[in-house]
Amino acid sequence: MTLCYLNGEFLPLAEARVSPMDRGFLFGDGVYEVIPVYSRRPFRLDEHLGRLQNSLNDIRLTNPLGHDEWHTLIERLVSAAEWASCSVLLQVTRGPIAVRNHAFPAAVTPTIFCLVEPLLTPPDAMREKGIAAISTADTRWLRCNVKATSLLANCLLRQMAMDAGCAETILFRDGILSEGAASNIFVVKNGVMLAPQKNHLMLTGITYDVVLELAAAHGLPTQVRDITDAEVRAADELWMTSSTKEVLPIVELDGKKVGAGGTASDGSPRNMGAAGLPGPVFKQMYGWYQDFKRTVMHGN
Ligand code: PDD
Repeated sequence: MTLCYLNGEFLPLAEARVSPMDRGFLFGDGVYEVIPVYSRRPFRLDEHLGRLQNSLNDIRLTNPLGHDEWHTLIERLVSAAEWASCSVLLQVTRGPIAVRNHAFPAAVTPTIFCLVEPLLTPPDAMREKGIAAISTADTRWLRCNVKATSLLANCLLRQMAMDAGCAETILFRDGILSEGAASNIFVVKNGVMLAPQKNHLMLTGITYDVVLELAAAHGLPTQVRDITDAEVRAADELWMTSSTKEVLPIVELDGKKVGAGGTASDGSPRNMGAAGLPGPVFKQMYGWYQDFKRTVMHGN
């Protein structure tokens, strides 16, 4: 039996009911977080709660719970979960309304929903082989920094990848990399890790921040800046990151092998790993990420 939390009650998921007049259902008027949990320890919980607060501020909805209340709620769900490694979904919507109207109601009773699900991290074979991606224009709105439940554009964009037999769709806005349909994207070129800058055109992933911190801690040269379409196509390595996928190597983009880009910027032959295979910088980062997770799991 899967346990969930809905508006103050812990109950079996099968018994949870939300009004069809909920603004989350009618308008996608809500925000959410997905938090990975390893060995019953939520990973980067305070950062997720901080981003939830930012999203709520952005959509002008008061946080219905205090910091300690969120902690208590999540602890209770995680300790009751069937799985020691799981993911926690937190969702807050602007609640039910009496009459359908785009404008906010005078009095808001937010809907709070939390659910624990098994953590589906990618299988080893997928990470060792790498994944294929396609690319397309970013058709979403201009407030992608808000982790909103209105995800229709993201769903359509991710489905494009599925239909092409790929795992992710990489998005460009005016020739500049924004992110994936449900992930952040990193580029490696000549041993330098490139990351798109945080702005309203992408969601600042919690995993994105961890990857930047690990790069800094281990002295991996990094540039955070606009990355052009041409730079993505000439990359030695491409990665996608998210809370559930962690760090995954993208080895094929639009049917072309990643890393087949030829020479280094000084004209010397590249020695950055074989095209179409996970690269050496990815392997380093993945190792750092797992080490970091272990310290969190052991409470250090
Ligand atoms: N999505 N960008 C988008 C559009 C995303 O949907 C996600 C993650 C990320 C990565 O964020 P983080 O590292 O904090 O998971 C970036 C989650 C996992 C989801 O919608 O299920």
